[in-house]
Amino acid sequence: MNKKLIISTIISILISLSNVVNGDSFTSSYVRLDPPSTDIPLDSEFFAAPEAYNAPQQVHITQGDYDGKAVIISWVTPYLHGSHTVYYGTTKGKYTSKAKATNTSYSFNVYKSGQIYHCLVDGLEYNTKYYYRIGSGPSNREFWFQTPPEVGPDSPYTFGLIGDLGQTMNSLSTLQHYMKGEGQTVLFVGDLTYADRHIDEAPHEGGLRWDTWGRLVEPSTAYQPWIWTCGNHDIDYFPKLGLLGEFMQFRERYPSPYKASESTSPLWYAIRRGPAHVIVLASYSGFVKYTAQYRWLDNELKKVDRKKTPWLIVIMHVPLYNSNTAHYMEGESMRSVFEQWFVDYKVDVVFAGHVHSYERSHRVSNLKYNISNGACSPVLDESAPFYVTIGDGGNSEGIAGEYISPQPHYSAFREPSFGHAILDIKNKTHAYYYWHRNQDGNKVTADSFVLHNQYWMSELEHTPI
Ligand SMILES: [Fe+2]
Repeated sequence: MNKKLIISTIISILISLSNVVNGDSFTSSYVRLDPPSTDIPLDSEFFAAPEAYNAPQQVHITQGDYDGKAVIISWVTPYLHGSHTVYYGTTKGKYTSKAKATNTSYSFNVYKSGQIYHCLVDGLEYNTKYYYRIGSGPSNREFWFQTPPEVGPDSPYTFGLIGDLGQTMNSLSTLQHYMKGEGQTVLFVGDLTYADRHIDEAPHEGGLRWDTWGRLVEPSTAYQPWIWTCGNHDIDYFPKLGLLGEFMQFRERYPSPYKASESTSPLWYAIRRGPAHVIVLASYSGFVKYTAQYRWLDNELKKVDRKKTPWLIVIMHVPLYNSNTAHYMEGESMRSVFEQWFVDYKVDVVFAGHVHSYERSHRVSNLKYNISNGACSPVLDESAPFYVTIGDGGNSEGIAGEYISPQPHYSAFREPSFGHAILDIKNKTHAYYYWHRNQDGNKVTADSFVLHNQYWMSELEHTPI
């Protein structure tokens, strides 16, 4: 190698390193090789309905109470006269209990939904596998789910994190990748179907794509709870078509146990599950001081008992910290209202979606900022939560590939790839967090770190030996 070539090689290595590493910040140079970001055709096998006449489809479950002793089981039948009964028990094929569903349906412009059923199954035992059957005669279908451990500090539990999923081959890859892992409950951070992107060219698909999505995700959602957060693609505000939003399709199909946490809206609520207190916030509902969501959160945070639920997790759609050019600073309004509480109550981690790339922050806060003091820069803050943006489910809008350069100091790791994450809570002081990109084998983690519990680690530090 001649001298000139050696020097130019060294310079290009230095340039590439300076692009990649910025203190403790890392921007991955990984290059995606994904299928195109277009929705899977309507007649695909991945959207196939069960063959039997009027069989239940789009089966999904979510937590049905505050503490994990109930589930809401939901499904759809094409026609009205489906069975309303859920039969369930702890032995496969032997159903000792039953519960009755309510049903509903709606119109959305030219689309008319099937019959949508919701059934609360409560009074369950913790840590128990339940089998359930819905439908009747030749159309019946059987599934199962596992209840969580009793709410308490010493119960390990594993959450999956998925966001902005949509219904492309990338979405399917994310789902299949997640299902190969150990996740027991999905914390879904908003934007489910992306059906709204079809409204202009095919208004019928504005509703129909909720059905196809329900069938696409059923292999997971029928067997473990998905905890739902609303996103902007779930709003459905199209006034010219007489569709006035307010998450109508989302609310009809994906209920939440909001009353159990004394919330006044299904869009924001809280659950306790094993060792975690999970707070679900609504980015597109009122949250400033004195609104219902603000007052509810004020009250809910006071109810958190870290001796029972050591882990305090917040999920929402719009990230409060993000260094992608997509949706940059859209979370500032909510950050300015809620961030002080997140620090004061020692929230461990805040998960959000909306940006179709992956990013993890350091522990960071921007509490000194007000509109007159000029101190508007986020600072690294050991008492603040981590912020993770996991809107990389793989929907039809494609990847958000452009980050702000240089990488801000509050950003720890970022990569424009599709994937999902796992939060594996081991005990009251430690949890492992992993982000998996779709292109890798299931055992490969593209980003990972050990989470030290905000409350218990500071308690232990102050405990005299
Ligand atoms: Fe979004």
